[in-house]
Amino acid sequence: MVSIHIHQFAPEGTLVDEHAMVQFQKQWTAYQKLVDSDVLAHRAAGAVLRAALMDETEPFSFLDIACGDASLARRALEGTKVAHYHGIDLAEPAIELAARMLDGVPYEVDLDHADFVASLRDRPEPVDIAWCGLSLHHLVTADKLTLLREIHDTTSDFLMLYEPARHDGEDRDAFVRRFLAAQEPLWTTLTLEEIGQIEHHIRTCDLPETVSGWLDLGREAGFSSAKTVFADPTDGLVMFRYDV
Ligand SMILES: C[S@@+](CC[C@H](N)C(=O)[O-])C[C@H]1O[C@@H](n2cnc3c(N)ncnc32)[C@H](O)[C@@H]1O
Repeated sequence: MVSIHIHQFAPEGTLVDEHAMVQFQKQWTAYQKLVDSDVLAHRAAGAVLRAALMDETEPFSFLDIACGDASLARRALEGTKVAHYHGIDLAEPAIELAARMLDGVPYEVDLDHADFVASLRDRPEPVDIAWCGLSLHHLVTADKLTLLREIHDTTSDFLMLYEPARHDGEDRDAFVRRFLAAQEPLWTTLTLEEIGQIEHHIRTCDLPETVSGWLDLGREAGFSSAKTVFADPTDGLVMFRYDV
């Protein structure tokens, strides 16, 4: 049974990440096409996550930070000992898709329509395993560290992230050029307007750390080990594992 909790993410009327919400509600359709056509390697990334989850021998709880449509998590959790899934996302269309995606799964599901920055700051719940796909790179470095600390302090086993990552020594502009040159030819299911929206989003909102930077942030946040476990075929997206 899926229970959807709609939270007032900022009761005083201030939204921590208003820009992200407006952008993603507008761009959701285009992003969903990228997920469906697998140009961001969601399937391969999900398989790496699933392999890690299959090693768990006891029932575990799973936090999906910025869950989107939850398609990656649903595949990754299949056949594992997951007992409870908790997804958080700021975009209402994402929450609705996630609810449909997780309908009928054999584990408990909670979905929060909420800002993960506020959720993790204000109502941290202990979990065994935390996951975040393609969503922390909008935060500036100090805010990434704060969030990773909060995740570390409430996670008992490990965190995995899948995020854009600059090569060591590559600046943001060079990364964006490299990423778009590799990705845009793959976006054959998008309209020109949608390509423009996504490109604008990447140029204006994305703040990827270097590979070493992502690893250092995890160690600084308190994780005992940090390593890379996967890179997508265009080498722009990297998966990291941080053990508590
Ligand atoms: C690029 S999508 C990634 C979705 C999913 N994790 C995946 O890998 O496909 C980014 C997601 O983050 C959500 N998001 C962005 N900022 C957020 C925030 N501050 N709080 C909650 N969700 C947020 C968006 O609504 C969107 O669903």
